[in-house]
Amino acid sequence: MERILIIGASGQIGSELTLKLRELYGHENVFATDVKDAPPDIKEKGPFQLLDVMDDKHLIHFVIRHKITQIYHLAAVLSGNAEKLPVQAWHINMDSLMNILEVAKLVEEVKKVFWPSSIAVFGATTPRQMTPQITLMEPSTVYGVSKLAGERWCEYYYKRYGVDIRSLRYPGLISHKTEPGGGTTDWAVEIYYEAVKKKQYTSFVNADTIMPMMFMDDAIKATISLMEAGRSSLTTHSAYNISGLNLSPAMVAEDIKRYIPDFSIEYLPDFRQHIADTWPQSVDDSDFRHDIGWQPAFALPDITDVMIDEIRKKIRTSLT
Ligand code: SER
Repeated sequence: MERILIIGASGQIGSELTLKLRELYGHENVFATDVKDAPPDIKEKGPFQLLDVMDDKHLIHFVIRHKITQIYHLAAVLSGNAEKLPVQAWHINMDSLMNILEVAKLVEEVKKVFWPSSIAVFGATTPRQMTPQITLMEPSTVYGVSKLAGERWCEYYYKRYGVDIRSLRYPGLISHKTEPGGGTTDWAVEIYYEAVKKKQYTSFVNADTIMPMMFMDDAIKATISLMEAGRSSLTTHSAYNISGLNLSPAMVAEDIKRYIPDFSIEYLPDFRQHIADTWPQSVDDSDFRHDIGWQPAFALPDITDVMIDEIRKKIRTSLT
């Protein structure tokens, strides 16, 4: 029987992945944790506890006490926020991963770990179209540097200690339940919220800045498929490229006009434009598709349909 620990269960990915894993593995077997409070459905339907992944002693006690067999470590400082406090972000992103890797090495019951990497591992010298799995990687952000170092550490622990750690280089994730915070791809979520609330959005990247994106349902499906795959079918033991669709603010704005014809968008690029300009515009994920048999289901019109509908519902509920 699997007993799963989620670190970062209150965040954009964790707040949805936790519910899906509870459906699959039983509510009582998925332990949601975070340094901040969680949404009501996370707390009501299964165990939730405040836990700081930076506290290594508390972490290892938790893992042993609850007989944890799988860990999903989702907590991180994203790219935009990390640029504001680089040293602190490096410390949080790296030390938390090292704590998890050490626990997975020391506690025999822990069989698998998931840790997200990102398209931020690439940099200005990387080919930006159909970025290959193995390529030049010179990230220029502290977030990207921490993810690239993290990937190398994951492979090191796999090769040296046999820790079965799996990872995906997520693109920007689009979702409606919990908003992301401080990322360079956040515009692809903000645009929908602002369109519904104000019919207006000011984008922090230019109209034609194309970035790899993915709908949360696809990201969750990919993540769970990766974790459930037999170890022998995996050819990458650091992080797989994964691709959904490639979007610019102008493309999303145009699609939103199907629902809100008088939606308007203006562009006021900030420091995140420079980050976006060093990231891929499309990613080659053929290794992941081959090894896992995975493909995304959500195209832009599907995403817009769900986002507008769910955000409208959310706003109606908050008004009643
Ligand atoms: N969504 C992340 C960010 O923008 C990239 O992984 O920081």
